[in-house]
Amino acid sequence: MKLSSSKRLVAFLTASALLAGALAGCTGAPPKNPAAAPGTPNAVNGRIPLVAPGEKDTHLGFWSSGPYGGVWVVGIPSMRILREIPVFEQRAAYGWGFDPASRSMLQDTMPDKSRASWGDTHHPMLSKTGGNYDGRFLYINDLANSRIAKIDLKLFKTVAIKRIPNIQGVHGIGVHADTKYVFATGEYEIPNALNPNANADGKFKTAITVLDQDLNVVAQVPVEYGNTDIMGTTLDGKYVYTTVYNVENGTTLKDMVASEKDAIMFIDVAKVDSALAEGKFKEIGGVKMIDTDYPGLKTFVPVAKNPHGVDPEPSGKYIVVSGKLSPTVSVVDIAAMKVVREVEVGAGPLHSSFDNKGNVFTGNFLDSNVVKWNLADALAGKPKEEYIRDMQPAHYSPGHMMADGGGTKSPGGKWLVVPNKFSKDRFVNVGADYPENQQLFDISGDKMRLIMDMPILPEPHDIQIAPVELFKDAIQAYDPAEAAKHEHNIEPTKEGETRVERDGNNVTVYTTAKRSEYGFKELKVKKGDHVTVYVTSLEKTKDITHGFALPDYGINKPINPGETIKVEFTADKEGTYWAYCTWFCSALHLEMRSRIIVEE
Ligand code: CUA
Repeated sequence: MKLSSSKRLVAFLTASALLAGALAGCTGAPPKNPAAAPGTPNAVNGRIPLVAPGEKDTHLGFWSSGPYGGVWVVGIPSMRILREIPVFEQRAAYGWGFDPASRSMLQDTMPDKSRASWGDTHHPMLSKTGGNYDGRFLYINDLANSRIAKIDLKLFKTVAIKRIPNIQGVHGIGVHADTKYVFATGEYEIPNALNPNANADGKFKTAITVLDQDLNVVAQVPVEYGNTDIMGTTLDGKYVYTTVYNVENGTTLKDMVASEKDAIMFIDVAKVDSALAEGKFKEIGGVKMIDTDYPGLKTFVPVAKNPHGVDPEPSGKYIVVSGKLSPTVSVVDIAAMKVVREVEVGAGPLHSSFDNKGNVFTGNFLDSNVVKWNLADALAGKPKEEYIRDMQPAHYSPGHMMADGGGTKSPGGKWLVVPNKFSKDRFVNVGADYPENQQLFDISGDKMRLIMDMPILPEPHDIQIAPVELFKDAIQAYDPAEAAKHEHNIEPTKEGETRVERDGNNVTVYTTAKRSEYGFKELKVKKGDHVTVYVTSLEKTKDITHGFALPDYGINKPINPGETIKVEFTADKEGTYWAYCTWFCSALHLEMRSRIIVEE
Protein backbone atom coordinates (compact mmCIF):
# COMPACT_ATOMS: atom_id res chain seq x y z
CA MET A 1 0.00 0.00 0.00
CA LYS A 2 1.25 3.43 -0.91
CA LEU A 3 1.41 6.10 1.75
CA SER A 4 -0.42 9.31 0.99
CA SER A 5 1.86 12.35 0.91
CA SER A 6 0.61 13.64 4.25
CA LYS A 7 1.22 10.24 5.85
CA ARG A 8 4.68 10.17 4.34
CA LEU A 9 5.36 13.60 5.82
CA VAL A 10 4.26 12.40 9.26
CA ALA A 11 6.46 9.30 8.92
CA PHE A 12 9.41 11.47 7.88
CA LEU A 13 8.89 13.90 10.75
CA THR A 14 8.57 11.09 13.27
CA ALA A 15 11.74 9.44 11.99
CA SER A 16 13.56 12.81 12.12
CA ALA A 17 12.39 13.38 15.67
CA LEU A 18 13.59 9.94 16.72
CA LEU A 19 16.94 10.51 15.01
CA ALA A 20 17.29 13.93 16.68
CA GLY A 21 16.50 12.31 20.01
CA ALA A 22 19.10 9.62 19.45
CA LEU A 23 21.72 12.23 18.47
CA ALA A 24 20.87 14.31 21.53
CA GLY A 25 21.59 11.20 23.60
CA CYS A 26 24.95 10.75 21.88
CA THR A 27 26.05 14.33 22.55
CA GLY A 28 25.28 14.02 26.22
CA ALA A 29 22.16 16.21 26.23
CA PRO A 30 19.55 14.88 28.64
CA PRO A 31 17.26 12.39 26.90
CA LYS A 32 13.83 13.79 26.21
CA ASN A 33 10.88 12.18 27.88
CA PRO A 34 9.06 10.48 24.98
CA ALA A 35 5.67 10.38 26.68
CA ALA A 36 5.82 14.08 27.50
CA ALA A 37 5.60 15.05 23.84
CA PRO A 38 2.03 15.40 22.63
CA GLY A 39 0.89 12.77 20.22
CA THR A 40 3.41 10.17 21.29
CA PRO A 41 2.03 6.78 22.17
CA ASN A 42 0.68 6.01 25.61
CA ALA A 43 3.06 4.07 27.81
CA VAL A 44 1.37 0.88 28.82
CA ASN A 45 2.91 -1.95 30.79
CA GLY A 46 6.03 0.15 31.16
CA ARG A 47 7.00 -0.47 27.52
CA ILE A 48 7.76 3.20 26.98
CA PRO A 49 9.24 4.57 30.16
CA LEU A 50 7.60 7.80 31.25
CA VAL A 51 10.79 8.73 33.05
CA ALA A 52 13.69 7.93 30.77
CA PRO A 53 16.96 6.57 32.17
CA GLY A 54 18.80 9.47 33.80
CA GLU A 55 15.64 11.51 34.34
CA LYS A 56 14.09 11.99 37.75
CA ASP A 57 10.61 11.66 39.10
CA THR A 58 8.47 14.69 39.86
CA HIS A 59 6.51 13.19 42.75
CA LEU A 60 7.13 10.98 45.75
CA GLY A 61 4.66 8.41 46.94
CA PHE A 62 4.64 6.86 50.39
CA TRP A 63 3.17 3.37 50.31
CA SER A 64 2.08 1.48 53.38
CA SER A 65 3.61 -1.92 52.77
CA GLY A 66 0.93 -3.92 54.57
CA PRO A 67 2.42 -6.99 56.24
CA TYR A 68 5.96 -5.77 55.45
CA GLY A 69 5.31 -3.50 58.40
CA GLY A 70 6.81 -0.33 56.97
CA VAL A 71 6.73 2.25 54.20
CA TRP A 72 7.99 2.16 50.63
CA VAL A 73 9.05 5.42 49.02
CA VAL A 74 8.24 5.30 45.31
CA GLY A 75 9.10 7.76 42.55
CA ILE A 76 6.16 8.85 40.41
CA PRO A 77 5.60 8.55 37.49
CA SER A 78 8.37 5.96 37.06
CA MET A 79 6.96 3.83 39.93
CA ARG A 80 10.54 2.91 40.83
CA ILE A 81 10.98 2.03 44.49
CA LEU A 82 13.56 4.49 45.84
CA ARG A 83 13.88 3.16 49.36
CA GLU A 84 12.10 1.46 52.20
CA ILE A 85 11.49 3.07 55.55
CA PRO A 86 11.40 0.22 58.06
CA VAL A 87 8.95 0.93 60.85
CA PHE A 88 7.46 -1.97 62.81
CA GLU A 89 9.83 -4.74 61.74
CA GLN A 90 13.55 -5.32 62.04
CA ARG A 91 15.41 -4.65 58.76
CA ALA A 92 19.13 -5.37 58.54
CA ALA A 93 19.66 -3.32 55.38
CA TYR A 94 18.82 -0.18 57.29
CA GLY A 95 20.18 -1.35 60.63
CA TRP A 96 16.66 -1.00 61.96
CA GLY A 97 16.28 -2.96 65.18
CA PHE A 98 20.07 -3.43 65.45
CA ASP A 99 20.84 -0.60 67.83
CA PRO A 100 19.50 0.03 71.33
CA ALA A 101 17.21 2.92 70.34
CA SER A 102 15.41 1.23 67.46
CA ARG A 103 15.35 -2.16 69.20
CA SER A 104 13.63 -0.64 72.20
CA MET A 105 11.14 1.20 69.95
CA LEU A 106 10.25 -2.11 68.29
CA GLN A 107 10.22 -4.51 71.24
CA ASP A 108 8.99 -2.36 74.11
CA THR A 109 5.83 -1.47 72.22
CA MET A 110 4.84 -5.08 71.46
CA PRO A 111 1.97 -6.62 73.46
CA ASP A 112 4.40 -9.41 74.35
CA LYS A 113 7.93 -8.00 74.45
CA SER A 114 9.51 -11.40 73.96
CA ARG A 115 7.97 -11.87 70.51
CA ALA A 116 9.45 -10.60 67.26
CA SER A 117 8.05 -7.21 66.36
CA TRP A 118 5.88 -7.14 63.26
CA GLY A 119 3.30 -4.81 61.85
CA ASP A 120 0.32 -4.55 59.55
CA THR A 121 0.54 -1.06 58.12
CA HIS A 122 -2.47 0.44 56.39
CA HIS A 123 -2.51 4.20 56.35
CA PRO A 124 0.40 6.54 55.84
CA MET A 125 -0.55 10.16 56.59
CA LEU A 126 1.64 13.18 55.84
CA SER A 127 1.74 16.04 58.32
CA LYS A 128 -0.16 19.14 57.30
CA THR A 129 -0.16 22.89 57.70
CA GLY A 130 -3.26 24.83 56.73
CA GLY A 131 -4.89 21.71 55.30
CA ASN A 132 -2.00 20.96 52.92
CA TYR A 133 0.91 18.56 53.19
CA ASP A 134 3.95 20.27 54.71
CA GLY A 135 6.58 17.56 54.05
CA ARG A 136 7.81 17.32 57.66
CA PHE A 137 6.50 14.02 59.02
CA LEU A 138 4.70 10.87 58.02
CA TYR A 139 2.55 8.90 60.44
CA ILE A 140 1.57 5.27 59.99
CA ASN A 141 -0.49 2.68 61.87
CA ASP A 142 0.11 -0.92 62.87
CA LEU A 143 -3.31 -2.51 62.95
CA ALA A 144 -2.03 -5.77 64.38
CA ASN A 145 -0.37 -4.50 67.53
CA SER A 146 -2.36 -1.29 68.09
CA ARG A 147 0.60 0.95 67.36
CA ILE A 148 1.29 4.17 65.57
CA ALA A 149 4.63 5.52 64.37
CA LYS A 150 6.14 8.83 63.37
CA ILE A 151 8.67 9.16 60.55
CA ASP A 152 10.85 12.26 60.33
CA LEU A 153 11.23 13.25 56.67
CA LYS A 154 14.59 14.94 57.26
CA LEU A 155 16.02 11.44 57.28
CA PHE A 156 13.08 9.35 56.13
CA LYS A 157 13.52 7.51 59.40
CA THR A 158 11.16 6.30 62.11
CA VAL A 159 11.61 8.40 65.24
CA ALA A 160 8.79 7.20 67.49
CA ILE A 161 6.54 4.17 67.92
CA LYS A 162 3.70 4.19 70.40
CA ARG A 163 1.40 1.42 71.57
CA ILE A 164 -2.08 2.71 72.29
CA PRO A 165 -3.77 1.50 75.48
CA ASN A 166 -7.44 0.56 76.06
CA ILE A 167 -8.17 -0.53 72.48
CA GLN A 168 -7.41 -3.35 70.07
CA GLY A 169 -6.46 -2.70 66.46
CA VAL A 170 -5.45 0.75 65.22
CA HIS A 171 -6.80 0.82 61.68
CA GLY A 172 -7.35 4.38 60.49
CA ILE A 173 -5.33 7.37 61.53
CA GLY A 174 -5.90 11.06 60.87
CA VAL A 175 -3.72 14.14 60.98
CA HIS A 176 -5.21 17.45 62.07
CA ALA A 177 -5.16 20.20 59.39
CA ASP A 178 -2.26 21.86 61.26
CA THR A 179 -0.83 18.65 62.78
CA LYS A 180 -1.92 19.87 66.20
CA TYR A 181 -3.09 16.32 66.87
CA VAL A 182 -2.79 12.89 65.36
CA PHE A 183 -5.83 10.63 65.77
CA ALA A 184 -6.20 6.86 65.77
CA THR A 185 -9.23 4.58 65.58
CA GLY A 186 -9.81 1.38 67.54
CA GLU A 187 -11.11 -1.36 65.31
CA TYR A 188 -12.14 -4.24 67.52
CA GLU A 189 -14.68 -3.98 70.25
CA ILE A 190 -13.20 -4.95 73.57
CA PRO A 191 -15.41 -7.06 75.78
CA ASN A 192 -15.09 -6.61 79.54
CA ALA A 193 -13.17 -9.84 79.89
CA LEU A 194 -10.33 -8.54 77.76
CA ASN A 195 -9.96 -5.17 79.36
CA PRO A 196 -12.16 -4.72 82.41
CA ASN A 197 -11.02 -1.13 82.89
CA ALA A 198 -11.83 0.08 79.45
CA ASN A 199 -15.58 -0.19 79.46
CA ALA A 200 -16.53 -1.15 82.97
CA ASP A 201 -19.55 1.12 82.77
CA GLY A 202 -20.74 -0.75 79.68
CA LYS A 203 -21.14 2.50 77.78
CA PHE A 204 -18.53 1.98 75.14
CA LYS A 205 -16.78 -0.67 73.13
CA THR A 206 -13.75 1.12 71.77
CA ALA A 207 -12.15 4.56 71.73
CA ILE A 208 -10.66 7.16 69.42
CA THR A 209 -7.22 8.23 70.59
CA VAL A 210 -5.95 11.79 70.43
CA LEU A 211 -2.15 12.11 70.36
CA ASP A 212 0.13 15.10 70.05
CA GLN A 213 2.48 15.32 67.07
CA ASP A 214 5.19 13.43 68.99
CA LEU A 215 2.67 10.65 69.69
CA ASN A 216 2.10 11.30 73.40
CA VAL A 217 -1.45 10.24 74.19
CA VAL A 218 -3.47 13.35 75.07
CA ALA A 219 -6.89 11.74 75.60
CA GLN A 220 -9.33 9.13 74.38
CA VAL A 221 -12.91 9.55 73.26
CA PRO A 222 -15.06 6.51 74.04
CA VAL A 223 -17.28 5.10 71.29
CA GLU A 224 -20.39 3.13 72.16
CA TYR A 225 -20.19 1.04 69.01
CA GLY A 226 -17.38 -1.30 68.13
CA ASN A 227 -15.49 -1.14 64.86
CA THR A 228 -14.20 2.22 63.82
CA ASP A 229 -11.92 1.71 60.86
CA ILE A 230 -11.18 4.47 58.33
CA MET A 231 -10.65 7.98 59.60
CA GLY A 232 -10.32 11.47 58.20
CA THR A 233 -10.01 15.06 59.34
CA THR A 234 -11.78 18.12 58.00
CA LEU A 235 -9.54 20.59 56.21
CA ASP A 236 -10.40 23.42 58.63
CA GLY A 237 -9.14 21.39 61.60
CA LYS A 238 -12.55 21.41 63.30
CA TYR A 239 -13.43 17.72 63.19
CA VAL A 240 -11.96 14.28 63.09
CA TYR A 241 -14.38 11.63 61.88
CA THR A 242 -14.49 7.90 61.46
CA THR A 243 -16.65 5.16 60.07
CA VAL A 244 -18.74 3.22 62.58
CA TYR A 245 -19.54 0.17 60.48
CA ASN A 246 -21.12 -2.04 63.10
CA VAL A 247 -23.80 -0.04 64.89
CA GLU A 248 -25.41 -3.43 65.52
CA ASN A 249 -22.47 -4.27 67.80
CA GLY A 250 -22.62 -7.69 66.16
CA THR A 251 -19.91 -10.27 66.62
CA THR A 252 -20.87 -12.40 63.61
CA LEU A 253 -20.92 -11.35 59.97
CA LYS A 254 -24.69 -11.81 59.80
CA ASP A 255 -25.25 -9.49 62.75
CA MET A 256 -22.76 -6.89 61.53
CA VAL A 257 -24.64 -6.36 58.26
CA ALA A 258 -28.15 -6.63 59.72
CA SER A 259 -28.98 -2.92 59.81
CA GLU A 260 -29.56 -0.91 56.62
CA LYS A 261 -27.70 2.04 58.11
CA ASP A 262 -24.40 2.54 59.84
CA ALA A 263 -22.79 5.83 60.71
CA ILE A 264 -19.97 8.33 60.43
CA MET A 265 -18.99 9.69 63.81
CA PHE A 266 -17.66 13.25 64.01
CA ILE A 267 -15.63 14.39 67.00
CA ASP A 268 -15.44 18.13 67.60
CA VAL A 269 -11.75 18.78 68.30
CA ALA A 270 -12.45 21.95 70.31
CA LYS A 271 -14.69 19.89 72.61
CA VAL A 272 -11.81 17.53 73.33
CA ASP A 273 -9.77 20.54 74.46
CA SER A 274 -12.58 22.01 76.58
CA ALA A 275 -13.46 18.68 78.20
CA LEU A 276 -9.83 18.25 79.22
CA ALA A 277 -9.66 21.83 80.54
CA GLU A 278 -12.84 21.29 82.56
CA GLY A 279 -11.68 17.95 83.95
CA LYS A 280 -14.53 16.07 82.27
CA PHE A 281 -12.68 12.77 82.06
CA LYS A 282 -11.60 9.84 84.14
CA GLU A 283 -8.25 8.10 84.09
CA ILE A 284 -8.50 4.65 82.52
CA GLY A 285 -5.38 2.63 81.82
CA GLY A 286 -3.29 5.76 82.35
CA VAL A 287 -5.27 7.75 79.76
CA LYS A 288 -7.70 10.63 80.17
CA MET A 289 -10.94 9.07 78.91
CA ILE A 290 -13.30 11.93 78.12
CA ASP A 291 -16.85 11.63 79.49
CA THR A 292 -18.80 9.94 76.74
CA ASP A 293 -21.81 12.24 77.16
CA TYR A 294 -19.82 15.49 77.14
CA PRO A 295 -22.11 17.91 75.23
CA GLY A 296 -21.26 18.41 71.57
CA LEU A 297 -18.32 16.00 71.65
CA LYS A 298 -19.70 13.45 69.18
CA THR A 299 -22.20 13.54 66.33
CA PHE A 300 -23.36 10.40 64.52
CA VAL A 301 -24.43 10.88 60.91
CA PRO A 302 -26.32 7.86 59.51
CA VAL A 303 -25.02 6.58 56.17
CA ALA A 304 -25.59 3.53 53.95
CA LYS A 305 -24.54 0.33 55.66
CA ASN A 306 -20.94 -0.74 56.18
CA PRO A 307 -19.23 2.44 54.99
CA HIS A 308 -15.54 2.38 54.18
CA GLY A 309 -13.57 5.27 52.62
CA VAL A 310 -14.32 8.67 54.13
CA ASP A 311 -12.44 11.14 51.97
CA PRO A 312 -12.50 14.93 52.38
CA GLU A 313 -12.88 16.77 49.06
CA PRO A 314 -10.65 19.83 48.51
CA SER A 315 -13.18 22.63 49.11
CA GLY A 316 -13.51 21.35 52.67
CA LYS A 317 -17.32 21.34 52.55
CA TYR A 318 -18.03 17.67 51.95
CA ILE A 319 -16.88 14.18 52.75
CA VAL A 320 -17.28 11.44 50.17
CA VAL A 321 -18.25 8.22 51.94
CA SER A 322 -17.95 4.98 50.00
CA GLY A 323 -20.75 2.51 50.53
CA LYS A 324 -18.90 -0.85 50.24
CA LEU A 325 -22.18 -2.82 50.23
CA SER A 326 -24.27 -0.23 48.42
CA PRO A 327 -23.77 0.93 44.81
CA THR A 328 -23.51 4.54 45.93
CA VAL A 329 -21.25 6.97 47.64
CA SER A 330 -22.83 9.30 50.17
CA VAL A 331 -21.86 12.96 50.10
CA VAL A 332 -21.91 14.31 53.64
CA ASP A 333 -22.25 18.06 54.12
CA ILE A 334 -19.94 18.80 57.05
CA ALA A 335 -21.66 22.00 58.22
CA ALA A 336 -25.12 20.41 58.06
CA MET A 337 -23.87 17.06 59.45
CA LYS A 338 -26.01 15.06 57.07
CA VAL A 339 -25.97 13.16 53.79
CA VAL A 340 -27.02 15.56 51.06
CA ARG A 341 -26.70 13.24 48.05
CA GLU A 342 -26.40 9.54 47.28
CA VAL A 343 -24.36 9.26 44.09
CA GLU A 344 -24.58 6.12 42.00
CA VAL A 345 -21.08 5.13 40.85
CA GLY A 346 -20.96 1.34 40.50
CA ALA A 347 -20.75 -1.78 42.60
CA GLY A 348 -18.64 -1.93 45.73
CA PRO A 349 -17.17 1.56 46.02
CA LEU A 350 -14.35 1.50 48.57
CA HIS A 351 -12.34 4.71 48.31
CA SER A 352 -12.23 8.04 46.51
CA SER A 353 -9.64 10.64 45.66
CA PHE A 354 -9.74 14.04 43.98
CA ASP A 355 -8.25 16.25 41.28
CA ASN A 356 -8.00 20.04 41.12
CA LYS A 357 -10.99 20.41 38.78
CA GLY A 358 -13.83 19.31 41.02
CA ASN A 359 -13.72 15.65 40.02
CA VAL A 360 -13.83 12.58 42.22
CA PHE A 361 -12.21 9.24 41.39
CA THR A 362 -13.95 6.33 43.06
CA GLY A 363 -12.72 2.75 42.89
CA ASN A 364 -15.33 0.02 42.63
CA PHE A 365 -14.11 -3.20 44.20
CA LEU A 366 -16.80 -5.41 42.65
CA ASP A 367 -16.86 -3.77 39.21
CA SER A 368 -13.02 -3.60 39.06
CA ASN A 369 -12.98 -0.07 37.74
CA VAL A 370 -12.27 3.55 38.54
CA VAL A 371 -15.06 6.01 37.90
CA LYS A 372 -14.37 9.71 37.43
CA TRP A 373 -17.35 11.82 38.38
CA ASN A 374 -18.00 15.49 38.89
CA LEU A 375 -19.01 16.50 42.39
CA ALA A 376 -20.85 19.72 41.50
CA ASP A 377 -22.87 17.97 38.77
CA ALA A 378 -23.80 15.15 41.12
CA LEU A 379 -24.81 17.59 43.87
CA ALA A 380 -26.91 19.54 41.36
CA GLY A 381 -28.87 16.36 40.67
CA LYS A 382 -27.76 16.00 37.05
CA PRO A 383 -28.26 12.58 35.45
CA LYS A 384 -25.63 9.87 35.78
CA GLU A 385 -24.57 10.20 32.12
CA GLU A 386 -23.58 13.79 32.88
CA TYR A 387 -21.87 13.59 36.24
CA ILE A 388 -19.90 10.46 35.30
CA ARG A 389 -17.06 11.73 33.11
CA ASP A 390 -15.03 8.60 32.54
CA MET A 391 -14.63 4.98 33.57
CA GLN A 392 -11.52 2.83 33.24
CA PRO A 393 -11.07 -0.81 34.19
CA ALA A 394 -8.75 -1.48 37.13
CA HIS A 395 -7.20 -4.94 37.38
CA TYR A 396 -8.53 -6.21 39.70
CA SER A 397 -10.67 -4.98 42.57
CA PRO A 398 -9.14 -1.68 43.59
CA GLY A 399 -8.83 -0.97 47.29
CA HIS A 400 -7.49 2.42 48.21
CA MET A 401 -6.58 4.88 45.53
CA MET A 402 -4.74 8.12 45.86
CA ALA A 403 -4.25 11.15 43.65
CA ASP A 404 -1.34 13.51 44.22
CA GLY A 405 -2.35 15.87 47.01
CA GLY A 406 -5.53 13.82 47.61
CA GLY A 407 -7.15 14.59 50.95
CA THR A 408 -5.76 18.16 51.03
CA LYS A 409 -6.99 21.59 49.98
CA SER A 410 -4.68 21.54 46.94
CA PRO A 411 -4.68 18.35 44.90
CA GLY A 412 -2.21 18.36 42.00
CA GLY A 413 -4.57 16.77 39.48
CA LYS A 414 -1.83 14.85 37.69
CA TRP A 415 -1.46 11.30 38.98
CA LEU A 416 -3.70 8.63 40.43
CA VAL A 417 -2.25 5.42 41.85
CA VAL A 418 -4.61 2.49 42.21
CA PRO A 419 -3.38 -0.43 44.31
CA ASN A 420 -5.45 -3.47 43.45
CA LYS A 421 -6.33 -6.41 45.62
CA PHE A 422 -5.95 -9.08 42.92
CA SER A 423 -3.80 -9.50 39.82
CA LYS A 424 -5.25 -12.80 38.51
CA ASP A 425 -3.98 -13.09 34.91
CA ARG A 426 -1.76 -9.99 34.72
CA PHE A 427 1.65 -11.53 35.36
CA VAL A 428 3.69 -14.69 35.25
CA ASN A 429 2.70 -16.38 38.48
CA VAL A 430 5.33 -17.85 40.72
CA GLY A 431 4.60 -20.17 43.59
CA ALA A 432 1.20 -20.53 45.16
CA ASP A 433 0.46 -16.84 45.59
CA TYR A 434 0.04 -14.29 42.84
CA PRO A 435 1.83 -10.97 42.56
CA GLU A 436 -0.03 -7.89 43.70
CA ASN A 437 -0.88 -5.37 41.00
CA GLN A 438 -0.95 -1.60 41.09
CA GLN A 439 -1.71 0.85 38.32
CA LEU A 440 -0.77 4.42 37.56
CA PHE A 441 -3.19 6.71 35.74
CA ASP A 442 -2.55 10.14 34.28
CA ILE A 443 -5.64 12.10 35.35
CA SER A 444 -4.67 15.49 33.91
CA GLY A 445 -6.84 15.17 30.80
CA ASP A 446 -10.57 14.63 30.29
CA LYS A 447 -10.08 10.88 30.19
CA MET A 448 -7.88 8.87 32.53
CA ARG A 449 -4.86 7.32 30.79
CA LEU A 450 -3.46 4.06 32.09
CA ILE A 451 0.30 4.67 32.23
CA MET A 452 1.58 1.63 33.99
CA ASP A 453 0.51 -1.63 35.43
CA MET A 454 3.07 -3.27 37.65
CA PRO A 455 3.52 -6.05 40.15
CA ILE A 456 4.67 -5.22 43.65
CA LEU A 457 5.35 -7.14 46.85
CA PRO A 458 2.39 -7.82 49.11
CA GLU A 459 0.75 -5.59 49.66
CA PRO A 460 0.37 -2.03 48.44
CA HIS A 461 -2.34 -0.69 50.71
CA ASP A 462 -2.70 3.07 50.91
CA ILE A 463 -0.56 5.93 49.66
CA GLN A 464 0.26 9.60 50.05
CA ILE A 465 1.64 11.48 47.03
CA ALA A 466 3.26 14.90 46.92
CA PRO A 467 5.67 16.81 44.66
CA VAL A 468 9.38 16.12 45.24
CA GLU A 469 10.04 19.80 46.10
CA LEU A 470 7.92 19.50 49.23
CA PHE A 471 10.60 17.37 50.88
CA LYS A 472 13.71 19.28 49.81
CA ASP A 473 13.86 21.67 52.78
CA ALA A 474 13.49 18.89 55.33
CA ILE A 475 16.14 16.76 53.64
CA GLN A 476 18.58 19.69 53.43
CA ALA A 477 17.99 20.61 57.08
CA TYR A 478 19.66 17.39 58.21
CA ASP A 479 22.95 18.08 59.98
CA PRO A 480 24.71 14.84 60.97
CA ALA A 481 26.89 16.50 63.63
CA GLU A 482 23.84 18.00 65.28
CA ALA A 483 22.09 14.62 65.04
CA ALA A 484 24.99 12.96 66.90
CA LYS A 485 24.61 15.48 69.71
CA HIS A 486 20.85 15.14 69.77
CA GLU A 487 20.63 11.36 69.49
CA HIS A 488 23.71 10.28 71.46
CA ASN A 489 24.75 13.38 73.38
CA ILE A 490 28.30 13.16 71.99
CA GLU A 491 30.48 15.11 69.57
CA PRO A 492 31.32 13.23 66.36
CA THR A 493 34.75 11.60 66.54
CA LYS A 494 37.39 13.25 64.35
CA GLU A 495 40.03 11.65 62.15
CA GLY A 496 42.80 10.08 64.25
CA GLU A 497 40.91 10.60 67.52
CA THR A 498 39.69 7.06 68.08
CA ARG A 499 39.72 6.36 71.82
CA VAL A 500 38.59 3.70 74.28
CA GLU A 501 37.27 4.66 77.71
CA ARG A 502 36.80 2.17 80.51
CA ASP A 503 34.61 2.65 83.57
CA GLY A 504 34.52 -0.60 85.53
CA ASN A 505 32.97 -3.14 83.17
CA ASN A 506 31.70 -0.48 80.79
CA VAL A 507 33.87 0.05 77.75
CA THR A 508 33.04 2.89 75.39
CA VAL A 509 34.71 3.12 71.99
CA TYR A 510 34.64 6.33 69.96
CA THR A 511 35.82 5.64 66.46
CA THR A 512 35.50 6.53 62.79
CA ALA A 513 34.81 5.00 59.40
CA LYS A 514 36.20 6.10 56.04
CA ARG A 515 37.18 4.44 52.77
CA SER A 516 38.31 1.78 53.55
CA GLU A 517 39.01 1.38 57.25
CA TYR A 518 37.71 1.93 60.72
CA GLY A 519 39.57 4.12 63.20
CA PHE A 520 40.80 1.04 65.08
CA LYS A 521 42.51 -2.08 63.79
CA GLU A 522 42.04 -4.18 66.87
CA LEU A 523 40.07 -3.80 70.07
CA LYS A 524 40.61 -5.94 73.14
CA VAL A 525 37.91 -6.24 75.78
CA LYS A 526 37.37 -8.61 78.70
CA LYS A 527 34.72 -11.25 78.83
CA GLY A 528 31.71 -9.74 80.60
CA ASP A 529 32.43 -6.15 79.52
CA HIS A 530 29.52 -4.09 78.29
CA VAL A 531 30.80 -2.48 75.12
CA THR A 532 29.33 0.62 73.49
CA VAL A 533 30.73 1.62 70.10
CA TYR A 534 30.11 5.00 68.49
CA VAL A 535 31.21 5.09 64.86
CA THR A 536 31.33 8.43 63.04
CA SER A 537 31.61 8.41 59.27
CA LEU A 538 34.29 10.83 58.07
CA GLU A 539 32.79 10.82 54.59
CA LYS A 540 31.57 14.08 53.11
CA THR A 541 30.78 12.65 49.70
CA LYS A 542 27.10 11.88 49.27
CA ASP A 543 26.17 8.28 48.55
CA ILE A 544 29.27 6.86 50.27
CA THR A 545 27.69 4.71 52.93
CA HIS A 546 29.63 2.37 55.19
CA GLY A 547 28.33 -0.31 57.51
CA PHE A 548 29.34 -1.77 60.84
CA ALA A 549 28.41 -5.40 61.35
CA LEU A 550 29.42 -7.66 64.22
CA PRO A 551 27.37 -10.74 63.40
CA ASP A 552 28.32 -12.73 66.50
CA TYR A 553 26.74 -10.02 68.60
CA GLY A 554 23.70 -9.40 66.37
CA ILE A 555 24.83 -6.00 65.09
CA ASN A 556 24.52 -4.44 61.64
CA LYS A 557 24.18 -0.70 61.05
CA PRO A 558 24.73 1.38 57.92
CA ILE A 559 26.61 4.66 58.50
CA ASN A 560 25.74 7.53 56.17
CA PRO A 561 28.19 10.36 55.40
CA GLY A 562 28.88 12.37 58.56
CA GLU A 563 26.56 10.20 60.62
CA THR A 564 27.39 8.78 64.05
CA ILE A 565 25.88 5.41 64.95
CA LYS A 566 25.72 3.77 68.35
CA VAL A 567 25.72 0.02 68.90
CA GLU A 568 26.24 -1.94 72.08
CA PHE A 569 26.75 -5.50 73.22
CA THR A 570 27.81 -7.51 76.23
CA ALA A 571 31.01 -9.38 75.39
CA ASP A 572 29.86 -12.71 76.77
CA LYS A 573 31.71 -14.99 74.32
CA GLU A 574 35.48 -15.35 74.24
CA GLY A 575 37.19 -15.26 70.89
CA THR A 576 38.10 -13.11 67.91
CA TYR A 577 35.27 -11.45 66.06
CA TRP A 578 35.59 -9.46 62.87
CA ALA A 579 33.56 -6.29 62.55
CA TYR A 580 33.16 -5.58 58.86
CA CYS A 581 31.64 -3.06 56.47
CA THR A 582 28.32 -4.26 55.03
CA TRP A 583 27.84 -1.50 52.46
CA PHE A 584 29.76 -1.49 49.20
CA CYS A 585 31.84 1.67 49.60
CA SER A 586 34.98 1.32 47.49
CA ALA A 587 37.16 -1.12 45.62
CA LEU A 588 38.63 -2.02 49.01
CA HIS A 589 35.23 -2.57 50.60
CA LEU A 590 36.02 -6.16 51.52
CA GLU A 591 39.23 -5.07 53.23
CA MET A 592 37.26 -2.76 55.51
CA ARG A 593 37.27 -4.77 58.72
CA SER A 594 38.74 -4.70 62.21
CA ARG A 595 38.84 -7.35 64.87
CA ILE A 596 37.45 -7.35 68.32
CA ILE A 597 39.10 -9.77 70.71
CA VAL A 598 37.20 -10.87 73.78
CA GLU A 599 39.66 -12.21 76.36
CA GLU A 600 39.08 -14.27 79.48
CU1 CUA B 1 33.00 0.80 53.93
CU2 CUA B 1 32.23 -1.04 52.50
